Amino acid sequence: MKIHTAETLAQMFEDHFLQMRTPDDPENLYAPIRYALGEGGKRMRPTLLLLSYNLFGDNMAQALDAAAAIETFHNFTLLHDDIMDNASMRRGRPSVYAKWGENVAILSGDAMLINAYAALQRVPAAVLPQVLHAFNSMAAQVCEGQQYDMDFEQRNKVSVVDYMHMIELKTSVLLAGATTIGALLAGASDDDVRHLHRFAIELGLAFQLQDDLLDSYGDERLGKKIGGDILEGKQTYLMVTAMSNADEGQREVLRTAPHRDDWSDEQKIAAVKAVYDTLDVPHLTEQQINIRFARATAMLDALSVPAERTESLRTYAASLIGRKR
Ligand code: IPE
Ligand code: IPE
Ligand code: MG
Ligand code: MG
Ligand code: MG
Repeated sequence: MKIHTAETLAQMFEDHFLQMRTPDDPENLYAPIRYALGEGGKRMRPTLLLLSYNLFGDNMAQALDAAAAIETFHNFTLLHDDIMDNASMRRGRPSVYAKWGENVAILSGDAMLINAYAALQRVPAAVLPQVLHAFNSMAAQVCEGQQYDMDFEQRNKVSVVDYMHMIELKTSVLLAGATTIGALLAGASDDDVRHLHRFAIELGLAFQLQDDLLDSYGDERLGKKIGGDILEGKQTYLMVTAMSNADEGQREVLRTAPHRDDWSDEQKIAAVKAVYDTLDVPHLTEQQINIRFARATAMLDALSVPAERTESLRTYAASLIGRKR
């Protein structure tokens, strides 16, 4: 059996994905879809799907449609997420919402969700019911996580447990959908499917914690506005950790800085980050990322396949945790 590297699989995916065509008209429905799905994303979810499939099978063509479905679904969530988060930058350029407006981002997003199901419909008929079930429960949970994320913006006390539950739903579950569907397509055992699901849940937690960290401490390579979460009043891992370790004065700064109309965005961001730095929050976040990453890779040890077959997946997972974009 041929085991591919993540780079090879990502390239296979890209070739397949970019040759998929959308109609020309109406321009304001389909141009944003081409813009969103074109090059620029990390393609993490399809890569994880193909790596998971490749643990048990090497007929990669069988997994490409499901990989396309999950990447299309992911990009649909981003179109709506940028409206919900008021985010004008994505992948180093204007978000669809900033470029075309809210109405276009809503409808193009909806059409992408439909396209995702159209791609999913092409998976081998024998596994379609299982794959569809995994996809649907994944998609519903992502919506639940997004709603908690929005609800938490209005709450002044969010516990670390609440926060972890929220990111498991909004982020981890999609990665777990990818590994689960990859394994199902290759006919993996129930135990292997479960272990890969758990692997991706933990990896997703590490990934979202890293995303929160980069949102405040990353640089232009991230392609999103640095400090966006602070300005938006997001309950990130940084914020919930700072809140639980802060004294009354620091808590007041964390609560009020994002809403001060006598301050520029830069002043708001600097004030919150000063508290984070005093409380060693970046370091605490990194520790939590490392714990979650270790739990993720431990799940790979439980798989029934020979250890060397899991190398590509391990290397890829590690590369995500060191990411800058
Ligand atoms: C962004 O996901 C949404 C989060 C879960 C943080 P990615 O960081 O994977 O986005 P792209 O597709 O690579 O741009
Ligand atoms: C994204 O979370 C989760 C989903 C889109 C489902 P974020 O809001 O943190 O993602 P970014 O930072 O905008 O990429
Ligand atoms: Mg969001
Ligand atoms: Mg966002
Ligand atoms: Mg983010």
